[in-house]
Amino acid sequence: MHPLLQQASQILQGNDRGGYTVPTAGLYPFQWLWDSGFTALGWAKIDEARAWQEFELLFKGQWPDGMLPHIVFHRLEASYFPGPEVWGTTHTPSTSGITQPPVIAPVLWRMWNQTPDRQGALEKLRDLFPKVLAFHRWLYKARDPLQTGLVAVVHPWEVADNSPLWDASFARIEVDPHLPPYTRRDTSVVESDQRPHQRDYDRYLTLVYAFRRVGYVPQKVWEVSPFRTVDVTFNSILHRANRDLRELALLLGHPTLEIDGWLKRTADGLQTLWNPASGFFEAFDLVTNEAIDIPTSSGFMPLYAGACTPEQGQKLCQRLERWAEQVRFLLPSNDPAHPSFEARRYWRGPVWAILNWMIADGLQQYARPDLAERLRQDTLSLVQKSGFAEYFDPHTGEGLGGGHFSWTAAIVLDWAQGLEEVA
Ligand code: GLC
Repeated sequence: MHPLLQQASQILQGNDRGGYTVPTAGLYPFQWLWDSGFTALGWAKIDEARAWQEFELLFKGQWPDGMLPHIVFHRLEASYFPGPEVWGTTHTPSTSGITQPPVIAPVLWRMWNQTPDRQGALEKLRDLFPKVLAFHRWLYKARDPLQTGLVAVVHPWEVADNSPLWDASFARIEVDPHLPPYTRRDTSVVESDQRPHQRDYDRYLTLVYAFRRVGYVPQKVWEVSPFRTVDVTFNSILHRANRDLRELALLLGHPTLEIDGWLKRTADGLQTLWNPASGFFEAFDLVTNEAIDIPTSSGFMPLYAGACTPEQGQKLCQRLERWAEQVRFLLPSNDPAHPSFEARRYWRGPVWAILNWMIADGLQQYARPDLAERLRQDTLSLVQKSGFAEYFDPHTGEGLGGGHFSWTAAIVLDWAQGLEEVA
């Protein structure tokens, strides 16, 4: 086995807490929704039974109404903030009260296509399918009450914490004057120039307490939240997930009518996010009813959804090529030429392996295997150079944030083929 794959396997094993995988010890000591989805991809390469288990444990956190929370607190761990006592939800095991992108169906569909044990996989899929369907149904009901075909996020933690996309909306949010005093834990583990600013953190908690006060009831959360944003990444993943969920429905003999409806509506919805003037997909602020014209890497995600016209696909590839001229490693999470770009700060510039993996999949769909391969090579080079970091500086390749990171390891395992070629 190539040493990089050996290390990646060891990282998953080291982060295994008996059926669920923590993103990284210390910084994130519980089970996170989309981390688990990607991590299962890695487990599937080395221990398929363990990959299925990741989902079984994740769905222990699912609420009766279908909501899948972004964190499941399987056991207590004092080192993390904000823990279960701050969220104050009523589910057992304890969970957070917000969600994250629904990457589950694409991972399940990929696992089905790779498994040597189709009979065993069918049994697992029969059990998981209705749970994933219920989650998608919840997303449309709770987060698209006006039936636009696009779902909203009500908290930046639902997708990309401190992305510059939220700067203007966040500037308008008033910090709760009764916010209980708190101590951040993230900045004691990671240098503060790689993490969100304090002013953002106060607002993250303002939102959490506002949702807690209304018992996380979706209609009330919608009413009280001063942050309701249609995010391109979230909706692109949802659309792709619906495509793959439909494949699973056909496989299992389940009707597809409901999923067909979502596919139509969200495809149309994503088209409304295209800005012909800038030639990019843009997020939309539902509070002010304005498009958010900040060119983050989120704008490439409709490639992954398979929701672009050929002309849009071509424009996105040209833009990607322009970005490639400005950094050593693709893909920065923000336009390197934009004033909000920060090479080291979390979702404001660094490279994330999971984004590279999804966008590379999209580039394959739009007949650009050369660019997809560039993303794969850059990801593997980054890990080779700097280890399995949470994210990377696109100029220097330095590893940033947490180390021994599960989803980075999982992407390397999934992308292992031909590893010898990487410089
Ligand atoms: C951070 C990321 C989020 C991820 C979590 C655990 O909060 O922004 O996307 O799920 O860490 O890795």
